[in-house]
Amino acid sequence: MRKKWVIGNWKMNAHSDFVAEWAEQVAKQQAVDVAMAVCPPFPYIATLKQKLTNTNIQLGAQNVAATDEGAYTGEVAATMLADLEVSLALVGHSERRTLFGETNEDVAEKCQRLAENGILPIVCVGETHAEREQGVTENVVAEQLAPIVELIKTGLRPVIAYEPVWAIGTGLTATPEQAQAVHTFIRQELTKVSAEVAESTSILYGGSVNRDNAAALFSQADIDGGLIGGASLDAEHFFTICQAFNSH
Ligand code: 13P
Repeated sequence: MRKKWVIGNWKMNAHSDFVAEWAEQVAKQQAVDVAMAVCPPFPYIATLKQKLTNTNIQLGAQNVAATDEGAYTGEVAATMLADLEVSLALVGHSERRTLFGETNEDVAEKCQRLAENGILPIVCVGETHAEREQGVTENVVAEQLAPIVELIKTGLRPVIAYEPVWAIGTGLTATPEQAQAVHTFIRQELTKVSAEVAESTSILYGGSVNRDNAAALFSQADIDGGLIGGASLDAEHFFTICQAFNSH
């Protein structure tokens, strides 16, 4: 049985009062049957960690430096995330790729830094609207995955998140069938490593997941959970999405 995840990505949203309120809301929620994590902006990781001590919500980061510690102004090293007991980190989010020029090779370097520090990489892949229209979704995803597949061959075991760029923050969710088709393709790519790796790797869907569409998406055979942006900012919505797993 593959591990099921719901991970919240707050992106560059939050302030101290918000963090306190979110944690307070979480305390009121019922237990759910899925691994949960939240990725706040860097400055709030330590506070949130403290506030979530008595919950089973893990802490994640939204990014990490591709290099070890040193003269890299503005960067945050994987060693620092490990020091804060961060369990996982997003790498290669489309906003990092398009707005900050991250390449597939940068993403692979970041994965390596995380793995060296015992942090689970959540590798994001996905096509733009134009690429889907051109019918090259699989080529794009395969290219993004290629260096990660090489790392998996060396023993790294990331989670993959399929986030079609056209569905991020747009309210345009991929249909369960569209998402399932790409997840199947990703799993097939992972058979290049081994059938066992393909079968055991969790593949999450992200892109306008909300409490109304989560259950239909999560009921697909190859969708092992979600990476949630906007809807994760509301703790109650986030938990309702997590509960979508309890319904099947
Ligand atoms: P939205 O859920 O806001 O579409 O964002 C998805 C995302 O980018 C999560 O990483």
